[in-house]
Amino acid sequence: MTDNSHAPSPVSADVMAEETDFGFRSVRKEEKKNLVRSVFDSVAGKYDVMNDIMSLGIHRVWKRIFVTELGPQPGLRLLDLAGGTGDITFGWLKGGGGPAIMTDINSSMLSVGRDRAINQGLVSDLSFCVVDAEAIPLRDMSVDRVSIAFGLRNCTDKLAVIREARRVLRPGGRFMCLEFSKVQVAALAPIYDAWSFNVLPAMGGMVAKDRDSYQYLAESIRMFPDQETLASMFREAGLSHVRYQSLSGGIAAIHSGWRI
Ligand SMILES: C[S@@+](CC[C@H](N)C(=O)[O-])C[C@H]1O[C@@H](n2cnc3c(N)ncnc32)[C@H](O)[C@@H]1O
Repeated sequence: MTDNSHAPSPVSADVMAEETDFGFRSVRKEEKKNLVRSVFDSVAGKYDVMNDIMSLGIHRVWKRIFVTELGPQPGLRLLDLAGGTGDITFGWLKGGGGPAIMTDINSSMLSVGRDRAINQGLVSDLSFCVVDAEAIPLRDMSVDRVSIAFGLRNCTDKLAVIREARRVLRPGGRFMCLEFSKVQVAALAPIYDAWSFNVLPAMGGMVAKDRDSYQYLAESIRMFPDQETLASMFREAGLSHVRYQSLSGGIAAIHSGWRI
């Protein structure tokens, strides 16, 4: 079993202003986007099957809860950030939500999503756009819901993403984030560690032929802010009525905040 006791803390990485975390490595801020891009370029074709294998299908349950909480309604417009292959956008549209803009910084992921949308007959009320979530090319107050699922962890400036989400929301609009979080059930931690640092990279090597990207995945989860820290970042970005819900003992969490 891998010894994770040498993992740097999120705080120690953030203190170095020019540097940021890429998993357990410290890299220059300008470098991180390219590193993240090459991870998702590499895994795009196997992304969906790997999600099912790695989470034993549980990511589908988390996403269903997330979309239900987003509250799809015909009159509401959704911006899905880091939308990847489309699970959240498609859940929104199938749930009766209004027009959706599915975005991602990575065109390989987005084109897998576009093919899936066509296969599922989800083409009306849906647009695709390559977008960096840290600099959203939309007018202020132009959407009703902003979602990001398993994407914030991969962004360099997480506070900038939350601020941008708030900026493009109409007053009364809601930003929601689904992300891996801090396990809160002590008995679960060693099993989860063994799964993350031993099983995941090995399966990534076998199925996606890319062990390193799945090692990054496991490391990036440990570097992500815990539930309370992320909630305080939501408040710092100006969102109101901030709350969160832990899922599966804290393996994942849904955070929500409103633009008043
Ligand atoms: C783990 S996938 C999540 C995809 C999808 N939301 C889901 O839940 O299955 C993370 C996605 O974040 C995207 N991403 C990383 N950095 C980003 C950024 N700065 N802006 C937008 N998307 C980004 C990646 O390209 C990747 O598609």
